[in-house]
Amino acid sequence: MTEQDFIPKPYTNTLKQGKVTWESPSNIALVKYWGKRDPQIPENPSISFTLSQCKTITTLSYKQKEAISDFSFDVFLDGEKKDAFKPKIETFFKRVEQYVPFLKDFHFTIETKNTFPHSSGIASSASGMSALALCLMSVEKLINVEMSNTFFNQKASFLARLGSGSACRSVEGDLIVWGHTKHVAESSDLFGVKYPYAVHDHFKNYQDTILLIDKGEKQVSSTVGHNLMHNHPYAASRFQQAHDNLEKLKPILETGDLKRFINLMESEALTLHAMMMTSNPYYILMKPNTLEVINRIWKFRENTGLHIGFTLDAGANVHILYPESEKVEILNFIENELVAYCKNGEYICDQIGFGAQEINN
Ligand code: PMV
Repeated sequence: MTEQDFIPKPYTNTLKQGKVTWESPSNIALVKYWGKRDPQIPENPSISFTLSQCKTITTLSYKQKEAISDFSFDVFLDGEKKDAFKPKIETFFKRVEQYVPFLKDFHFTIETKNTFPHSSGIASSASGMSALALCLMSVEKLINVEMSNTFFNQKASFLARLGSGSACRSVEGDLIVWGHTKHVAESSDLFGVKYPYAVHDHFKNYQDTILLIDKGEKQVSSTVGHNLMHNHPYAASRFQQAHDNLEKLKPILETGDLKRFINLMESEALTLHAMMMTSNPYYILMKPNTLEVINRIWKFRENTGLHIGFTLDAGANVHILYPESEKVEILNFIENELVAYCKNGEYICDQIGFGAQEINN
């Protein structure tokens, strides 16, 4: 598939007004995407678990305009008008207009809400942009009825990527690869694909407990962080490492080797943060409590032999991943020992999920 394949033929149907709704989950990367070039092409392949509880629910209402003018839309978060979101959506519309050329034909009302607090430090861009991209695809499907489900999902992921890179991994579940690598057949820089190889039952319902360590706004945005990988002294070896890790992950996922899984996942998380610390300008997103939690996880793992591991995204929060069979002991440990390091004692229990869903209006 190339970008050209996502440019539609002239539409045959017309629409007056209506609405569509999608709920789309967040995702957590095991091999991290860090570094990109225009237009949102990743410098390295990544793979993520799709989550199920942390999600965005978006309703897109469309009404045909009298005359075709510029983009016209209003955005509401939790029922309140949110003009601060407009520039990001306007940029997204500009980027995707050639692929969904009906955008200027309608006035849109975008009503969105998250199941996790906006200020939690959990990125809402992946779930938010994928939910919006899926809504646009539902509108396109009404105009262009003949569209396979495979193409629908592929194009939704393609559009979501143009909104926020990691959003392209939130359309489907449960393990998604984005970025071309010879180690994964059919992988593409343009959209996410379902991981096509065997996955052991140990990963079924794999748990992700997210400790909310710091809820503040990030000092350095992901966009700035990605750009700091240009001319980064370790960029070339980091990008190669991501390919190598995807290759290494295949037998780990197949045999359910949780020790090696945890080793690879934690190494990826710390490498991501090492890239931030070795950028110029350099910066640190981890907080003292992030390190405290990591050390306690390591100690608990050593003492119990349980398969508890962590990963981080571009922030201070810690994602604790573990198999469902060890849920009781590990949640006990989290509640007894780790909650004290969370802001207001807050954490979110999530688990691997199967992707976005359309909601009937
Ligand atoms: O989608 P973005 O541009 O917000 O980038 C997110 C990158 C990480 O979350 C740090 C890693 C990843 O692969 O999700």
